[in-house]
Amino acid sequence: MTIKELFDTMEYGPAPESAAEALAWLVDQGDRFGHFIDGAFTAPGDGFDSHNPATGEVLATLTQATQAEVDAAVAAARKAQPKWAALGGAGRARYLYATARLLQKHSRLFAVLETLDNGKPIRESRDIDIPLAQRHFYYHAGMAQLMESELPDAEPLGVCGQIIPWNFPLLMLAWKVAPALAMGNTVVLKPAEYTSLTALLFADICQQAGLPKGVVNIVTGDGAVGEMIVASDVDKIAFTGSTAVGRRIREATAGRGLELTLELGGKSAYIVFDDADIDSAIEGLVDAIWFNQGQVCCAGSRLLVQEGIADRFYTNLRARMDGLRLGNPLDKCIDVGAVVDPVQLQTIERMVASNTAGQVHHAACTLPENGCYYPPTLITGLSTSDPLMQEEIFGPVLVSTTFRTPAEAMELANNTRYGLAATVWTENVNLALDIAPKLVAGVVWVNATNLFDAAAGFGGVRESGFGREGGWEGLTAYTRPKGKRRSLARIEPATGHGAPVDPIDRTAKLYVGGKQARPDGGYSRPVWGKSGLLGHVGLANRKDVRNAVEAAAGAAGWAKATGHLRAQILYYIGENLSTRTAEFAHRIDAMTGKRGGAKEVEASIQRLFTAAAWADKYDGQVHGVPIRGVALAMKEPVGVIGALCTDEAPLLGLVSVMAPAIAMGNRVVLAASEPYPLAATDFYQILDTSDVPAGVVNILTGSHGELAKPLASHLNVDAVWSFSSTDLSAEIERAAAGNLKRTWVNNATSLDWGVDHSKRFLQAATEIKNIWVPYGE
Ligand code: NAI
Repeated sequence: MTIKELFDTMEYGPAPESAAEALAWLVDQGDRFGHFIDGAFTAPGDGFDSHNPATGEVLATLTQATQAEVDAAVAAARKAQPKWAALGGAGRARYLYATARLLQKHSRLFAVLETLDNGKPIRESRDIDIPLAQRHFYYHAGMAQLMESELPDAEPLGVCGQIIPWNFPLLMLAWKVAPALAMGNTVVLKPAEYTSLTALLFADICQQAGLPKGVVNIVTGDGAVGEMIVASDVDKIAFTGSTAVGRRIREATAGRGLELTLELGGKSAYIVFDDADIDSAIEGLVDAIWFNQGQVCCAGSRLLVQEGIADRFYTNLRARMDGLRLGNPLDKCIDVGAVVDPVQLQTIERMVASNTAGQVHHAACTLPENGCYYPPTLITGLSTSDPLMQEEIFGPVLVSTTFRTPAEAMELANNTRYGLAATVWTENVNLALDIAPKLVAGVVWVNATNLFDAAAGFGGVRESGFGREGGWEGLTAYTRPKGKRRSLARIEPATGHGAPVDPIDRTAKLYVGGKQARPDGGYSRPVWGKSGLLGHVGLANRKDVRNAVEAAAGAAGWAKATGHLRAQILYYIGENLSTRTAEFAHRIDAMTGKRGGAKEVEASIQRLFTAAAWADKYDGQVHGVPIRGVALAMKEPVGVIGALCTDEAPLLGLVSVMAPAIAMGNRVVLAASEPYPLAATDFYQILDTSDVPAGVVNILTGSHGELAKPLASHLNVDAVWSFSSTDLSAEIERAAAGNLKRTWVNNATSLDWGVDHSKRFLQAATEIKNIWVPYGE
């Protein structure tokens, strides 16, 4: 081609990055890898080949871990953990900092190896994946440094099993390893079977950084190895990957007392209003769905365009798509690289082929003859019920429909079982900031997309999983509150016989939707105290749970009430309780046969006042992120919380759960203390006289064992907490897998009700949404 012709066509010449250094590193390792256990590489064993998806060439052979190898890795991590924790935050910070420096020093080698192994364009691995991984280690070196001063009540969990996917191999490793190490944990990490090479190079870096042996252990293999880690003696599982596997892990860990965070799939909405800067919104889409070939959990894969601009927008978008350059991922001039593996390519092809709706546009690029390539694709004219509008494709395929009004946009955006991310494009700041809180998603980007930073927590709601990675909130996933743990000891209801203390038959009802309700089954049970029969309580069943949840779901307006109003109502509840102190104290003493009633009522009043105090002060944060913008970390209520209240403190236990939960805008369905339920049933009268809107607080009585499963499996319940003296964690966590609701179970082991733990409750009662907005130059 002549220079004149080049100028005429403006065609880019190839500018390939050399693979020589990365290939030489593989050769140096013998092209065969074992695992990294207890500070050393093990001898390679039986395994499988790792391919370059752009060419199909074998890059290296990896070892499929055996049970004995997984056990050895967990044992090494277990042995190393106490010493690692004892180093103190400042001691660990130096290793994290050294790791960050080494990642920076070898960044080009990492970028090239990542691109060879994964197929992503070198521009992305060089400018996004690897720098963000470094940033994560730097940021968490700082978190380690600050742990003792800023998180004085936190301690490490112990050994963390970490299972990561193939779409951002080193970056996902960094997201998992850096906070775990910073907080004093040790790890056993399994990279995805398609993309393990940068994790093995990272192991090399750990050696160079002089990391104590056993602190980081890396085992390779497929899902079977993941299952072994999940089944092993670890204290936490952190998983990123598909929702299906996340659900399996939730079930497999149920009742084992493990911490769990799941970062799962998504079908994130990309909303373009008619006043948007169209060119910018289209450029944003290139980053939203064609970045990393669309293999991004938070990819803006569902385009919603306002009707008035739809034709123009689609025309311009198709033109932009046709200009995208697809090809050799090592070429610095290409926009779209290879899909990770033939299996993933077939999934994308099959999903698109199964669609019969809408109009399909494939970008006008030529696909290389070899390798796993799929053209950027746009499917317009779909409706919400079309499978491709609901299912995660995890490929470079954008699906789209139009909307008329902001309200319709919201409805469409939230019509998904996922809730990971969303993007809003509009030049109207009022509209953007009105829409952001209404989007059911863990992350919202305004006039930008796919922005990430270690300072801003990342994670989803609904079936996109739970837990956050990054920011202060990410640290709670790797720590637990200090303090002794007790084992659960079931408190049995007292039995007795003889005449009632009070001759009038009093059968306390349930409290549902602001009204007293007879239990559906029509059954009740006597409540005995030392002095005789104290009364009867209704035995709630599955149907009563449904009614209570319906009432709670119907009281959604509470989430929008101001903190000021919620505070006033909580103060009012406290004040009304204080006028009846003697009566409640007497009731508690009669049920428990102890003399702590007066103290318990006083502590309950204090809890109500503390929650009232926090209602308008437990604010979010503004994160300074290294882009032209800020991330607003807004605290949102979790939604409907079902809680089995503690058995031991009949009033204080109920109030300690209820007050912070409703202070944050949640609605609650509370199962009262099983042996001592009458303080809770007396409490309705206090709620009735305190202006609590109907449905915000619902109280059931009966067997915790009967109520746990219906609460945990109800799709309109967003979180289930258990403070019961009965260990119901297995059934709660298993049933919660259905819609992946948050759980907080067996809390009786670590909470002393005499101590004010309001901060822990406030944290559990809120979910952080990070809203990235443009700000400043
Ligand atoms: P996957 O969820 O099966 O794999 C992710 C990781 O989990 C890998 O390390 C894998 O070896 C491991 N794993 C698989 N089965 C396991 C089990 N039973 N127990 C423990 N660990 C297990 O994802 P896959 O099959 O690679 O991709 C399938 C689909 O998953 C994609 O098409 C995409 O829709 C979704 N996906 C979502 C990701 C995200 O970031 N949200 C990342 C990767 C995939």
